[in-house]
Amino acid sequence: MTLLGVNVDHVATLRNARGGTEPEPILAALQAEMAGADSIVCHVREDRRHVKDRDLRLLRQVVKTSLQLEMALVEDLIGLALEVRPNEVMIVPERRQELTTEGGFDAVARQQDLGGVIKRFREAGIGVSVFIDAELPQVEAAHAAGAGTIELHTGPFSHAGSNDKLEAEMDRLETAAHRGWELGLEVHAGHGLDYRNVELLVRKLPVEKVNIGHAIISRAVFSGIENAVRDMKALIAAAS
Ligand code: PXP
Repeated sequence: MTLLGVNVDHVATLRNARGGTEPEPILAALQAEMAGADSIVCHVREDRRHVKDRDLRLLRQVVKTSLQLEMALVEDLIGLALEVRPNEVMIVPERRQELTTEGGFDAVARQQDLGGVIKRFREAGIGVSVFIDAELPQVEAAHAAGAGTIELHTGPFSHAGSNDKLEAEMDRLETAAHRGWELGLEVHAGHGLDYRNVELLVRKLPVEKVNIGHAIISRAVFSGIENAVRDMKALIAAAS
């Protein structure tokens, strides 16, 4: 069955809007776990615009499932990750002005840097996932660099405007996922997944995990985080 990672970044965004202490992302993580989340995900960005170092440290202390840290490949964050020791790091690209992660990490262009960092994390006992576009060279480069997991970028699938585009994106995801499995990788998927599109994705592509943030936190504003996580888990279970 496909697992669900819940990204709590947007709770931190709301908190930071007033520069205060509420809402508390740690509480969101605990409630998500109580409702069945299989892992908690957060992205510490270079500019610390939402999740702060303090949040990551506290999450490490309280998360009982599995803590996944999304991070750019920069020394400052590598040091933080090695110190705090999440269960897994996910390497993502980062542009300072972007609203959210816009594309996959270029594992082909940066295979050597990636390989060096994966080795450091492996030696520290921390798993590494690489967030990539659904393209065969990217899958192969992530594997060659030593990643154990890839997360396929589902943004183009989620934002496909027509059925033709949707089918084409689904095909791309399937081809990339099957190559990943062939190489012995664990395959995750994420970005832009929501209550309308998750069933189709999971039914066609039984990935080991989907990571979802915005849709769950948006629904939680109206129904509470536990209901929002339970609803998503039910859709995934029905499709798995
Ligand atoms: N996966 C990655 C690599 C991401 O950067 C994000 C956004 O932080 C997500 C998944 C979750 O995306 P969304 O918030 O659109 O569900």
